[in-house]
Amino acid sequence: MSNQQTITRAFKDHFSKTPHFVIRAPGRVNLIGEHTDYNDGFVLPMAIDRAIWIALGARNDRQVRLRSLHFDALTEFSLDEITHKPGWGEYIRGVAWALQEAGYRLAGWEGVMTSDIPIGAGLSSSAAVEMAAAKAFSLVGGWGFDPPAMAQIGQRAENQWVGANTGIMDQMISAAGRAGHALLIDCRDLSTQQIPLPTENVFVVMDTATRHAHTDSGYNERREECEAAARFLGVSHLRDVDLPTFRDRAGGMGEGIRRRARHVITENARVLEAVEALRQGDSPKMGRLMDASHASLRDDFEVTNRELNVMVELSQNQPGCFGARMTGGGFGGSAVALVEEARAKEFTQAVDEAYQAATGLDPHLYVCRASNGVETMARSTTTS
Ligand code: GLA
Repeated sequence: MSNQQTITRAFKDHFSKTPHFVIRAPGRVNLIGEHTDYNDGFVLPMAIDRAIWIALGARNDRQVRLRSLHFDALTEFSLDEITHKPGWGEYIRGVAWALQEAGYRLAGWEGVMTSDIPIGAGLSSSAAVEMAAAKAFSLVGGWGFDPPAMAQIGQRAENQWVGANTGIMDQMISAAGRAGHALLIDCRDLSTQQIPLPTENVFVVMDTATRHAHTDSGYNERREECEAAARFLGVSHLRDVDLPTFRDRAGGMGEGIRRRARHVITENARVLEAVEALRQGDSPKMGRLMDASHASLRDDFEVTNRELNVMVELSQNQPGCFGARMTGGGFGGSAVALVEEARAKEFTQAVDEAYQAATGLDPHLYVCRASNGVETMARSTTTS
């Protein structure tokens, strides 16, 4: 049974009627441009074929009731009094709170939710939940879903309601991705360009089976270091500094902060080069940029762990692999490799085995296809 069939059937089982809407919101893998979003820089993620699914029906009151099939748990609240309640429901409550704060008209709904995005693997399941919830409120409330505006709502929910100080990338790609494309996002003005992906090569996501939460200190520490570097360099964000200017002005900067800044500045340049490489169908160049990104995240930004480094090195040594890097916030989670499609199976098997032998952990490797951002997969006006 497809996810769409499963979620539609689950809705019928719970509510004895047909859902008004079935929504799908994807997770993401970032191809290049890591820890650049909160520096007002460039990122190049793609939405993946793993997603959050919600089937829902409108209610006549201001209650929101959503059952997660995955957690086998219900979250329920009134739009007139949204309060904190620890757990996955915080993302739904946070989105409702942020939408109301921004003046959107909300109405109640009830539904069921499922997901095939692995949690904590660095594939942005929380941003996908936020974009699915925002879409649900827009459909039930009868107003349009504007991707950048909704991404900002999701980010506000995450930052101010959930308390994770993340950037805008994950929500933007879940809101605005397109099948067959990566999305170049300028995180300063949220302008985007769809970049066609190669058809003969694939991106393999490689979950190291090690985890790190965004609410932990590492991510916030890096943000603070970047802000300190920007202050030293006399700019509002590191986005405003290019490599020659950085070299001119970095004298006297503390070694740690200097390396953080160097990562962000070189990474922004790599994103723009990667876009050119993809446009020219130059996978070897794209792969080299991914390798360089990983080295910079490992040595300058210091957000990899041993397992990510092992996974990336093993991948880079496989035939048919153009390049590999960690992806997402780091300190655990997943890596991504660009691989010849014809060799993808052999690649995943070999890396899986070698990784198990090197770490004793059981990784998950799978080819990911670029999918659409959040979308309404079915709608119905009848409720029986
Ligand atoms: C996490 C955050 C993003 C971004 C990445 C690092 O995924 O949610 O906003 O900062 O880390 O690139």
